[in-house]
Amino acid sequence: MVSDLENIWSQSSKRLKRSVIRELLKLTASPEVISFAGGLPAPDTFPKEDLKDVLIEMMDKESNFVLQYGTTEGDLILRKRLVENQYRPIEGMDITIDNLVIVTASQQALDLIGKIFIDPGDKIIVGAPSYLGGLAAFRTYGADMVGIDLDDEGMDPVKLEKALEEMKAAGEKPKFIYIIPDFQNPTGITMPESRRIKVLELAKKYDVLILEDSPYREIRFEGEHQKTFFALDNTGQVITIGTFSKILCPGLRIGWVIADKKIIDKIVMAKQAADLCTSPFTQRLAARYLEKELMGDLLKSTVAKYREKRDVMIEAFEKYMPEGVSWVKPQGGLFLFMTLPEHMDSEKLFMKAIEKNVAYVIGSAFYANDAGHNKLRINFSYVDKETIKEGVKRLAQVIRENM
Ligand SMILES: Cc1ncc(COP(=O)(O)O)c(C=O)c1O
Repeated sequence: MVSDLENIWSQSSKRLKRSVIRELLKLTASPEVISFAGGLPAPDTFPKEDLKDVLIEMMDKESNFVLQYGTTEGDLILRKRLVENQYRPIEGMDITIDNLVIVTASQQALDLIGKIFIDPGDKIIVGAPSYLGGLAAFRTYGADMVGIDLDDEGMDPVKLEKALEEMKAAGEKPKFIYIIPDFQNPTGITMPESRRIKVLELAKKYDVLILEDSPYREIRFEGEHQKTFFALDNTGQVITIGTFSKILCPGLRIGWVIADKKIIDKIVMAKQAADLCTSPFTQRLAARYLEKELMGDLLKSTVAKYREKRDVMIEAFEKYMPEGVSWVKPQGGLFLFMTLPEHMDSEKLFMKAIEKNVAYVIGSAFYANDAGHNKLRINFSYVDKETIKEGVKRLAQVIRENM
């Protein structure tokens, strides 16, 4: 080993922080712990038999292709399928395959977008709270993140405009506004179309890009699909990220970015340096799976399973949670966000919850600014319905004992 390892780290590697969450999540690994912490899809939603059939056919017919390097832009068949958008609700996106690049799931998209836009000290705007993996990706590049509070319709446009105005007065312009409009992680809130239009108008007025990250869009239990920011704009002001992680399976590690061609070209260059290409094997597997037109039925069954779990969880909350605790009932997605009384700290409560064998993610992890100490995120997709009831009962008891 070299003698001066601590002196030779790069500036950006010095910004990498061991995630508090990862450390806390290690404590949830024990089999006795009922974990509402991760964002994992339920394994019984994975279409194992169908994927196996597709896999065998693929290996019989095109093994030389799928075992070889692929292009950085991604599998042509998959990109065409995605642009045709056969499994999604009508999107109204005015795009061709030149507007779409396949990435190694959406986390890579967040990293590459950070890489191509952020210099140390650059401002970006994020929701307060927001997806912690996004915050971690942007932090690595030295972003100065400005958190905008959410109300029950998502990012508050009055606060957003105030922040944009203040930056303008200081001669600064944020590189982009990061938004998770559908069943937001962690709050479960969906932004109605009227709010999207307002936010888009502000983005145009202040000449700022919107980064729309929407992994949960198809997991809607009730209500109407709201148009994507991309479809509401269609002029290149919006970059949209999608993924198969929550609707097919995360192990494939396939996501995509849809954007103006100039932005796609830059992402392709950054991706070339990062990993040359996303696995041609899993890309073609996903493409052939889509071709069989099985996605519609799969989505229906996944949505039905998660809707039932959401209902079981809400019922258990209503039955067991003490007065003073509130939560958002999500219309889709995988999460429910809870607020404890102001004086309580979900981080302090965490160890007590672990003693009672139940786990969640602490709210403060989702805030770029030191906030959210009395909040917690609960996942309802992974554990089975009986375990959900038992877990909520345990959690309610811990909260009651510490109120
Ligand atoms: C909002 C959001 N973006 C991106 C991701 C990353 O997902 P993946 O890399 O599996 O596509 C997640 C995962 O939970 C997420 O919640």
